[in-house]
Amino acid sequence: MKVENIRIELTDQPNDKPDWNNLQFGRTFTDHMFVMDYTPENGWHDARIIPYGDLPMSPASSVLHYGQTVFEGLKAYRDREGNVSMFRPDQNMKRMNDSNERLCMPAFDGDFVIEAMKVLIDVDRDWVPDVEGTALYIRPVLFATSPNLGVDPSANYRMIIMMSPVGAYYEGGINPVKIAVESHYVRAVKGGTGAAKTAGNYASSLKAQQEAEKKGYEQVLWLDGREHRYVEEVGAMNVFFKIDGEIVTPELNGSILPGVTRRSVIELLQHWGEPVVERRLAMQEIYDAAQEGKLEEAFGTGTAAVISPIGELYWNEEQMVINEGKIGSLSQKIYDTITGIQSGEVEDPFGWRVDVPKRG
Ligand code: COI
Repeated sequence: MKVENIRIELTDQPNDKPDWNNLQFGRTFTDHMFVMDYTPENGWHDARIIPYGDLPMSPASSVLHYGQTVFEGLKAYRDREGNVSMFRPDQNMKRMNDSNERLCMPAFDGDFVIEAMKVLIDVDRDWVPDVEGTALYIRPVLFATSPNLGVDPSANYRMIIMMSPVGAYYEGGINPVKIAVESHYVRAVKGGTGAAKTAGNYASSLKAQQEAEKKGYEQVLWLDGREHRYVEEVGAMNVFFKIDGEIVTPELNGSILPGVTRRSVIELLQHWGEPVVERRLAMQEIYDAAQEGKLEEAFGTGTAAVISPIGELYWNEEQMVINEGKIGSLSQKIYDTITGIQSGEVEDPFGWRVDVPKRG
């Protein structure tokens, strides 16, 4: 497929833009969306940009019954001059195809979809907010459409890319979040789908999150599914701890989502010459470090959450307050640098920003 062949149908009923200063995460959508379909006979075809809206589908679509679907999240930013760019979209395309593979779904051409996203963003360029801390969140989703109640991989699929102007993921912005360590429910096990960005991982996390919220915690920190000993990730974020000068994040073991922001933070820390390691990390080690005054900082990373400092952990009926519940200097420096690179305020030595050109 060629980007020149994408059919574009513009809306004649554009929506009013929301107040960029009061954006809630993922509640308003831009005027257009990208759609393409897959059949075994034609492969991916009929790439189109059409007005955002409902699409008819069969009640027997296998995604509704067996959850064969994957998604991504990435962002576009507006710089001071008004130019728009995306952050590392190649990483999202690669991960989405890895997720597809795990869910028996057809691969797509990531380079083509990046080009299609550039056109889509350009069509809805006015929807890229220009207030500090805001961005245009891009949500590709790919799902099974064959009307078939048999438990088999679907034959047909659809990919949609929708977009939503967003502010901070958490209501408190960059204020530290409180996280409950989950000792009962599990998110993923080795050999499961934990490394894929698929709906079921999120559906099965809701119960634990609801229970944590009732106790006053924003999200849960998942432990490994077998022993409930090793730290994996937080609800919508990967997680880092600074322990006695060393920055540790759980290694990718097959049940952890390989986050794009996670990878970027590791590369940034390496670039700065900071000691960063990916390894197995027991919750007991974090607890002991907190007791000994060596748990210096903790933060989550994610496209939606960006860098989110963790001010408190709750584990086995005990509270661990981290850095007096305040944002630590390393978390702040990483936040400033990552968001600075994304918004064009800080030089990008890595080539992470990808320009979204204006169509001629
Ligand atoms: C993201 O950070 O983009 C995510 O997908 C996390 C969440 C909103 C599901």
